[in-house]
Amino acid sequence: MDEDLERILIGEKEIKKRVKELGESISKDYQGKELVLVGILRGAIIFLADLAREINVPMKVDFMAVSSYGSSTKTSGVVRILKDLDDDIRGKDVLIVEDIVDTGLTLKYLLKNLKSRKPASLKVCSLLKKENKQQISLDIDYCGFKVPDNFIVGYGLDWDEKYRNLSCIYVLKPELYNED
Ligand code: IMP
Ligand code: MG
Repeated sequence: MDEDLERILIGEKEIKKRVKELGESISKDYQGKELVLVGILRGAIIFLADLAREINVPMKVDFMAVSSYGSSTKTSGVVRILKDLDDDIRGKDVLIVEDIVDTGLTLKYLLKNLKSRKPASLKVCSLLKKENKQQISLDIDYCGFKVPDNFIVGYGLDWDEKYRNLSCIYVLKPELYNED
């Protein structure tokens, strides 16, 4: 294991099993609907790629990139669109696919922004939800796992753009980001 990683939190098999379950629930709920998965770049790419293949209703995939973290591990509270959706979502059944909800600021912004485009429905699927006491209360319709209030990497999640390619989910060593 890399020296920056403290411990493994969720293994590959467990992730696969949970992603399959989420895909099954989503497939059931979106039968006959016009599903559009909106992946939030870049953290959600690995999760979205696996989740999409566990969903058996017709779908489109689109992406948005927003900034909430720079290269550090603290949210700024300011959310900016770096890349917008390619297609119009008016009248579509939109499912936001996120990697992790920490403070909830990013998701709050995304919900407000996408809602204003008048989709038929708007829901959220997040792989992880952090147990952060300062978290804004938001409905996460599909949630993979609750994780402790640590910095998490792997399976798409990065620290300074590193570790996205790890197949498992890890806790980063706290001494790497607890310096302020
Ligand atoms: P929030 O706005 O505080 O909820 O932060 C959400 C975004 O910050 C997520 O989409 C992630 O990209 C990033 N983020 C938050 N916590 C972590 C973490 O523990 N590891 C990696 N990225 C994180
Ligand atoms: Mg993200």
